[in-house]
Amino acid sequence: MAKTKSAYFCQNCGYESAKWLGKCPSCNEWNTFVEEVVDKNAANVPTWKVSTATQRNNRPNKIQEIQRATMDRTTTGDLELDRVLGGGLVAGAVVLIGGEPGIGKSTLMLQLALNMVGKRVLYVSGEESEQQIKMRAERIMVNPRSDCYILTETSTQHIFKQVEQLSPEVVIVDSIQTLHSAHIESTPGSVSQVRECTAELLRFAKETATPVFLIGHITKDGAIAGPKILEHMVDTVLQFEGDRHHIYRILRSIKNRFGAAAELGIYAMQHSGLREVSNPSEILLSQRDEELSGITIGATLEGARPMLIETQALVGTAAYGTPQRSATGFDTKRMNMLLAVLEKRCGFRLSAKDVFLNIAGGIKVEDPAIDLAIMAAIISSHEDIFISPKICFAAEVGLSGEIRAVNRIEQRIAEAEKLGFEKIFISSYNLKGITRDKFKIRLLTVNKIEEVFAALFG
Ligand code: TYD
Ligand code: MG
Repeated sequence: MAKTKSAYFCQNCGYESAKWLGKCPSCNEWNTFVEEVVDKNAANVPTWKVSTATQRNNRPNKIQEIQRATMDRTTTGDLELDRVLGGGLVAGAVVLIGGEPGIGKSTLMLQLALNMVGKRVLYVSGEESEQQIKMRAERIMVNPRSDCYILTETSTQHIFKQVEQLSPEVVIVDSIQTLHSAHIESTPGSVSQVRECTAELLRFAKETATPVFLIGHITKDGAIAGPKILEHMVDTVLQFEGDRHHIYRILRSIKNRFGAAAELGIYAMQHSGLREVSNPSEILLSQRDEELSGITIGATLEGARPMLIETQALVGTAAYGTPQRSATGFDTKRMNMLLAVLEKRCGFRLSAKDVFLNIAGGIKVEDPAIDLAIMAAIISSHEDIFISPKICFAAEVGLSGEIRAVNRIEQRIAEAEKLGFEKIFISSYNLKGITRDKFKIRLLTVNKIEEVFAALFG
């Protein structure tokens, strides 16, 4: 009988230990160790045959002599996904897609499988039955020319057997946490299983130059479930995020060996699947007829993409003792900092006020260039003065109320101009290196937060 060996794994970070530990020395989490059986004898047998060709040519090569193979990129039939991947799908790439349950990962992948016309795609599902997938496919409409196969299977050995017969050109696995390899005895979803299954799929992808998509679950704090090591192993990590109550979804690249990270794709979840949103600014600005206070527009940059986003603030007298502060789509700590600047530098008495902040469209903004728009929205609501919807803002605000320069200002200005804005507030420091005459939109340059309010409210 094969000797079995067990080890303890931290379910949070994948740290391996010979004995049980209360606290993980690697990630400092408590109570995360679980015993998993590792069958060392069998683990040495590769599932996906290692070709001798790759083993033979293993000597150091001078960098100048290495021939750069032209990277063949295949379009996925989805412009947003192509852009997030850095211009298309690379042969042999392993792409991990993470996201909360119900956000639309399976829908996105099934859509991709059905839209890659002319490619044989294998969709392996360990979560849903063929019937369920068929029903979903009917919602998003099956392209009659698509060549997509569904396999409901969780054992990697069986999957590889089918793969050898079908020889698909793209493989999608939904999800990596449901797979199990016969080489490891622990339960599906455990650290060692996830790691082993990913390693097997990685080997398969590299040797056959087949791109593989892996869907991964995420934990409640937003990390891709199971081990962080999963993110190190794969070539590209994409995060699918959004608010389930809104229709917009954002696909963000967190890591990409074949393109720029922080690229962004935007989708709208509709009755018939996900639709690409090619002009995000237009949908993120609500059409207003009335003159409402507390609304401003910030020229932000998400990834490499300029977007004009509406911010809404509501400032009211606190009904009970401690005032409430809450922000949706923006960091509450940063909002508190901006409020402190307004109080200290501009003399607005906000400490006894409730302040609510909302970024339109259920989008989360991390770009500091939205600071000025947020402060203007708060003051607009506080003073109940309307700010023209033809004005937008692109600047970061520092602790002493100074208006700081932001990156890629020309792109932001150009986007604002394209959308018909008449004026944009920017930092004076941003003027260096840009040609003012190039733009028709009026550039209002400011140094201090007070100047902004003087210009806005007189
Ligand atoms: P799903 O792809 O199953 O999410 P995940 O795999 O990330 O868990 O998508 C789930 C949600 O999307 C589900 O609540 C229903 C909704 N949906 C639509 O609104 N329209 C559609 O066409 C489809 C297929 C799903
Ligand atoms: Mg799913």
